[in-house]
Amino acid sequence: MDKIVIEGGHRLGGTIDAGGAKNAALPLLFATLLTDELCRLKNVPDVADIRTTCRLLEQLGARIRRPKPGEFLVDCSSVGASEAPYELVRKMRASFLTLGPLLARFGRARVSQPGGCAIGSRPVDIHLAALARLGATIEQEHGYVDAHAQRLEGGHVILEGPSVGATENVMMAATLADGKTLIENAAREPEIVDLATALRGMGAGIRGDGSSVIEIEGVESLGAMKHTVIPDRIVAGTYLIAGAITGGAVLVRGARPDHLSSLLDVLSRMGCRVAREADSVAITMENVPRSVSVATAPYPGFPTDLQAQLMALLCVSDGLATVDETIFENRFMHVQELVRMGADIRLNGHRATVRGLRSLSGAPVMATDLRASVCLVLAGLAAEGTTEVLRVYHLDRGYERIEEKLSALGAEIRREPM
Ligand code: EPZ
Repeated sequence: MDKIVIEGGHRLGGTIDAGGAKNAALPLLFATLLTDELCRLKNVPDVADIRTTCRLLEQLGARIRRPKPGEFLVDCSSVGASEAPYELVRKMRASFLTLGPLLARFGRARVSQPGGCAIGSRPVDIHLAALARLGATIEQEHGYVDAHAQRLEGGHVILEGPSVGATENVMMAATLADGKTLIENAAREPEIVDLATALRGMGAGIRGDGSSVIEIEGVESLGAMKHTVIPDRIVAGTYLIAGAITGGAVLVRGARPDHLSSLLDVLSRMGCRVAREADSVAITMENVPRSVSVATAPYPGFPTDLQAQLMALLCVSDGLATVDETIFENRFMHVQELVRMGADIRLNGHRATVRGLRSLSGAPVMATDLRASVCLVLAGLAAEGTTEVLRVYHLDRGYERIEEKLSALGAEIRREPM
């Protein structure tokens, strides 16, 4: 149980690496369950959610080696029809992405229901309805989903909502189904395209990923995965906002500007100078940021995973802005903690109205989930005095050695045991 301690008021400057994308690496690791050939995955971030994923895969019978930092060799040849237990699924709901691959390869899967989480109820009804469209028999009892299918059959799936997880689960399942599958209203996130690219490398017949209509021609079996994970656009966006909130100049190496266009548009309108290169993005903020209103939306709209970080910036911007959270029903847990730091934020259902102030004041604050915790770190960088962020295990789920990386940019930040 560590805490992060920040002395605010230091302008950040320099270069930092984006690192591999957590939300791409998780489904990619689960996709290795689709084959009995050895898989190699590179640029995997060293974060807690990846470690939980590896524990789950090993519990299912996989053998995992790490020849180099960020490189994983995964062998699922001795995995059998098995169960993803509650104690791991409740820790990380992305574990529900074992359902599609296990069902497709073994004709049976038993996976714990993820349950709710801090940011919302997050049901899995869209996943289950879509797998049933591919011919799976789905039973739910005792907190588990039991799915059976001799062999999945290709079908026409219309997702009720563009769910990232449901698109990934069904796309993976359909790769080994008999015949063609069409997924309509599919999610378009870059992590979906990264998964589809890796699956194509394994011999899958996938087209249309990145659009809302994906077509999959099922095959008998898949070969080995050899893939390098895309850069983490949410981590990259977080570090760009860290630069902006301290009036600094930060370059994020490895970041893909095309994956960040909605954020970069907002930062430009706030007065940031933005420099886009093929594999890096840099921002410079010389003046007090101008307030700009945002509404979260599925990709390519403004990502809900950057909503809290942007709200921290709006707290010290010039003017009034609204932030509409349209994806999750309970993703304003950071607001009361920002108010404890002196922020002026009014909540009304899915809308937060933020009146920008000259500065915030450092305070002890409590992290509640991954993105809320990093929002408080950003606020602490801009605040006068000392901020202590408690429960940083949330942060470690998705950010690799954040205090070291921010220190390298000039922040006064350290980790301390509670
Ligand atoms: C992914 O979660 C990400 N996680 C989330 O990032 C991200 O916030 C989210 O997509 C939206 O962009 C990973 O990739 C591991 P969804 P996922 O299914 O797949 C509702 C982070 O901070 N829904 O697109 O779970 C759901 O409740 C995390 O890194 C249903 O109603 O998100 C939500 O309101 C947090 N029924 C909305 O759809 C379903 O069956 C979007 O959820 C599925 C989803």
